[in-house]
Amino acid sequence: MLLLHRAVVLGLRQACRLKCTHSRLCIQAAQDSPHIYTKEEVKSHSSPETRIWVTLGSEVFDVTEFVDLHPGGPSKLMLAAGGPLEPFWALYAVHNQSHVREILAQYKIGELSPEDQAPSTLKSSDPFADDPIRHPALKVNSQRPFNAEPPPELLTENYITPNPLFFTRNHLPVPNLDPDTYRLHIIGPPGGQSLSLSLSDLHQFPKHEITATLQCAGNRRSEMNQVKEVRGLEWSTGAISTARWAGARLCDVLAKAGHQLRDTEAHVCFEGLDSDPTGTAYGASIPLARAMDPEAEVLLAYEMNGQPLPRDHGFPVRVVVPGVVGARHVKWLGKVSVEPEESYSHWQRRDYKGFSPSVDWDSVDFDSAPSIQELPVQSAITEPKDGEIVESGEVTIKGYAWSGGGRAVIRVDVSLDGGLTWQVAELDGEKQCPQKAWAWRLWRLQATVPPGKKELNIVCKAVDDSYNVQPDTVAPIWNLRGVLSNAWHRVHVHVAP
Ligand code: MTE
Repeated sequence: MLLLHRAVVLGLRQACRLKCTHSRLCIQAAQDSPHIYTKEEVKSHSSPETRIWVTLGSEVFDVTEFVDLHPGGPSKLMLAAGGPLEPFWALYAVHNQSHVREILAQYKIGELSPEDQAPSTLKSSDPFADDPIRHPALKVNSQRPFNAEPPPELLTENYITPNPLFFTRNHLPVPNLDPDTYRLHIIGPPGGQSLSLSLSDLHQFPKHEITATLQCAGNRRSEMNQVKEVRGLEWSTGAISTARWAGARLCDVLAKAGHQLRDTEAHVCFEGLDSDPTGTAYGASIPLARAMDPEAEVLLAYEMNGQPLPRDHGFPVRVVVPGVVGARHVKWLGKVSVEPEESYSHWQRRDYKGFSPSVDWDSVDFDSAPSIQELPVQSAITEPKDGEIVESGEVTIKGYAWSGGGRAVIRVDVSLDGGLTWQVAELDGEKQCPQKAWAWRLWRLQATVPPGKKELNIVCKAVDDSYNVQPDTVAPIWNLRGVLSNAWHRVHVHVAP
């Protein structure tokens, strides 16, 4: 998430344009006769005051002028200050590309002394080496960390997405946790009791089951990218899936620890057991009011479709917050605490927020926008695919529709002529409880291809039970991170002669 290909390229290009007298002098010096530095010397350059140096292989770089331009944020680059880049590049493999190295070369100031040139740790310290094996049908958006979506034609084959095809959104390597020694720490209120729960302790709470759709805020980001470049993984329509989840209700576990809904501003903060090289864990939070509401059905889930959670989806325990953006469904859950404010995690405060199309990376103020919780109404066409040739006569159009906050989808409209005329699709799927429509509706339309038509501009749009509708185009909802992409979905097909 943090260090993405496009972002890296953009940031580095921008950095390239920067005129840094110091760097140029250093580069010149390095070209004339490479200056030799010891590891200790490099280590002493780890702050803006002393300048910020890093190494890659045998080379030493002064990246002081680049830190503020680092696409993943200055703090992430500062983690490597005074030391080697390899452990970080191994984690964010997008850096391992020739153009990134070429641009970094401009910051070169010398060489590491031969005694300090340890063999590259890139392969031996591969933090992803223990990641699980994945289904080959998944369309991979990034291998390390692993991010992948099911192809559209498989996505709506089943109302319940089979576990191996469920989309995966990881920011870090997948931890390999031992279910026998696993403990979930629930921090109690002041004067109350903290809990350290084993898996079998968690099974002692009443088992609660729900069918819920999980959607990443970046679903359909690739369409935003076509309007104007955004930073983020190129998700198509598949960063969404549905499962039957089972586990303990969060409200039951919080109550056991003595928590009550006293402070309506408070948040329940979740920490994962996946972490970056500094030990910083993935984290996110939801309002305490949602967590304590039994009707909100927030789960500490240990089962997905009748199976223990697969490793990619949070084994042994994850949070499931129905109706809420995927980012809050923290996987590999290690710690739960109630705090007066929302989580200080990067993914809560510096990501997964929406902005006006006018906001760019120079003007963005992350504190000015609330973190995304409930998602807006969404739908997409999964069949036919863009560019496909369909038979004349009849065409079957299929897709999914879902809305956040438990709002039920009440209708899906489909057009074959780009939105001039509409037909109502048939909705499949389970009957949904009012205010608790956690799962998607699959839909289909069997339509007559107008005689003589050589091509069709198929469009879909959904309406939820608050009569929220999807916007017709992407441009007015474009935002720099490419989140909340829910414009009418459009597919252009040719009709066989
Ligand atoms: N939890 C942890 N610990 N680490 C993560 O990287 N990714 C989040 C969320 N929970 C993440 C996490 C995001 S952004 C999404 S969309 C969902 O998990 C994806 O869940 P899935 O991989 O089971 O589909």
